[in-house]
Amino acid sequence: MHVEPSAADCDTLIENGYQATASTIEEYQPATQADAIVALNSYAQPTKEVLSTVLKPGGKIITNNWTKWAADVVAIEGVRLEAVLLPSYMNDEAVLVEGSDIPPDASGIDLTYTKVDRSGQVSAGSADDPDSFPMEMAYFPDALFVFTFDSTI
Ligand SMILES: C[S@@+](CC[C@H](N)C(=O)[O-])C[C@H]1O[C@@H](n2cnc3c(N)ncnc32)[C@H](O)[C@@H]1O
Repeated sequence: MHVEPSAADCDTLIENGYQATASTIEEYQPATQADAIVALNSYAQPTKEVLSTVLKPGGKIITNNWTKWAADVVAIEGVRLEAVLLPSYMNDEAVLVEGSDIPPDASGIDLTYTKVDRSGQVSAGSADDPDSFPMEMAYFPDALFVFTFDSTI
């Protein structure tokens, strides 16, 4: 089942024989909970309530980290990071790293500061410089993260 807010996109999928529901994941109430969900570059907000509604106990979540899904999902109680395909799922030499071999910051977000001066010159900034602005970027935005979620915890 494909769930997303765009009714036009869902209509196109349905016309081509796929199952789709026009809804946000936050409002979606499935008839049957899924074994797994896949969220790539989604702007939805993953929460314990959302995962409990859409996933069977012990269900799997597969996601990347461009929109911070991996960083947000890893912080949810009951979630366990099982494996990560590093450094990117588009890399022919990507490696599946599991369990204790997963780097501690694999799903982390890097915070850097950038400064643009009056001539448009871009340089490194800092947290205490009022002319700097913060930029957040996942260490591995295109890694593929595999989580399990135990909603009873
Ligand atoms: C940047 S697109 C990514 C599409 C595709 N997965 C890809 O990687 O090319 C973001 C997708 O998330 C969907 N989306 C945004 N907010 C959502 C929400 N609250 N619940 C479910 N899907 C959402 C959008 O409709 C869109 O299809």
